[in-house]
Amino acid sequence: MNDALTTDRISHLIDAAIDRPGDDPIFSLNNEAKARAAAGEDILNATIGALMEDDGRLCVMPAVFDAYSSVPPSKAAAYAPIAGDPPFLRAVIEDTFGSRTSDAGTFASRSVAVATAGGTGALHHAIVNFLDPGQALLTTEYYWTPYKIIANHTRRAVETFEMFDDAGRFNLKAFEESLTWSISRQGRALVVFNFPCHNPTGYSLDDEEWAGVANIVREAGRRAPVAFLNDLAYARYGVDGSESWTEHLETMAETAVVLVAWSASKTFAQYGARIGALVALAADADERERIANAISFSCRGTWSNCNHLGILAITELLINAELRSRVDAERAGLIEALGARVEVFNREAESLGLDYPRYEGGFFVSLFTPDAELTAATMRAEGVYIVPMKGAVRVALCSTPTPAIPRLVAALKRGIEAAGGVAQAASDANDKRGNATS
Ligand SMILES: Cc1ncc(COP(=O)(O)O)c(C=O)c1O
Repeated sequence: MNDALTTDRISHLIDAAIDRPGDDPIFSLNNEAKARAAAGEDILNATIGALMEDDGRLCVMPAVFDAYSSVPPSKAAAYAPIAGDPPFLRAVIEDTFGSRTSDAGTFASRSVAVATAGGTGALHHAIVNFLDPGQALLTTEYYWTPYKIIANHTRRAVETFEMFDDAGRFNLKAFEESLTWSISRQGRALVVFNFPCHNPTGYSLDDEEWAGVANIVREAGRRAPVAFLNDLAYARYGVDGSESWTEHLETMAETAVVLVAWSASKTFAQYGARIGALVALAADADERERIANAISFSCRGTWSNCNHLGILAITELLINAELRSRVDAERAGLIEALGARVEVFNREAESLGLDYPRYEGGFFVSLFTPDAELTAATMRAEGVYIVPMKGAVRVALCSTPTPAIPRLVAALKRGIEAAGGVAQAASDANDKRGNATS
């Protein structure tokens, strides 16, 4: 036996893999909360990123299961095509641009797509095909941590820009400067946004902010190859008008490739199905073909083919009129229940003068604090679990029972004050969000 392999000093792992964290901090917090609840404590767990009923059961949409049972076993059991079944891809493209823009037909005809393992898979394919190893994607300073995990795992990185300006609005200036810097350093850029209902802040860009973003992307695209990805994980939970980004597609697509990470996870409350898609809108036909080939190659080079039962069932939900209207109605019920929580949260948080971005809908909201770890620890001592980040804590309203929201908000106030954060006068907090919506 090779002595080197028996000593403590040598690992079989390569250097890059040797110190990987084995646990996800959010899952660890969730486990701790569950253990305390099982031991009889009155625990409020606002860490879980899935939509739950007030009684703690996972929300499901029954029509989805009818769609599953309508799929013939011999089709479900067969391999899916590597890029995904064409009817699924057409349905996803239609769903992405669909009724939401006057130019839907044009965008659909200029788009290609592949099926992916959730939105996560779509992000993976975007990162490996639109950035070289060593380069960095550009996103907001608050972002879903797996962006960094996927980037690091594929030997890329993440760079961020300040998300909000002094008025609490999206910081267009910081975005423009960072994009310019990315391009001057790398000769290309991949921008990753997650609106509406951004995780973790809950923020949705308004039409004026989207217009600003689209102009910046178009101008940057004149100087270098720019890919702009919008991660639509929570898009269906936004309020009316929050998907107005599609009205600015034409501007961005003039010079940039527009990518969409589409996901069935939240849209159909099917987190475990692992169904998603990467959609790419490119004006030039040759470029479209190259992109279609590249992202299909990435499917083969990762999972080969996605879950066929899931693809076929989700296709039915998108194209079968009866199933679609049922599932849309079921989702509308969930959105209404979540909307009621958002309303209670805003009322309570505003009355206590808490500092947080405009929040109109979606699974999460974040509150600013000078010391998030201390805020979270103070709240845990009271049995309330939220997720600390740099400069803010994330609250999952999606899994917080409505009657528990006043307790949650009161604990947030104490946690933020313990960290040296000062609640604003309620009227100041309202003004700030009032400005933000204008
Ligand atoms: C911001 C964001 N993007 C993408 C995803 C990907 O989800 P999935 O891979 O289940 O589609 C999630 C899931 O939590 C998310 O929060």
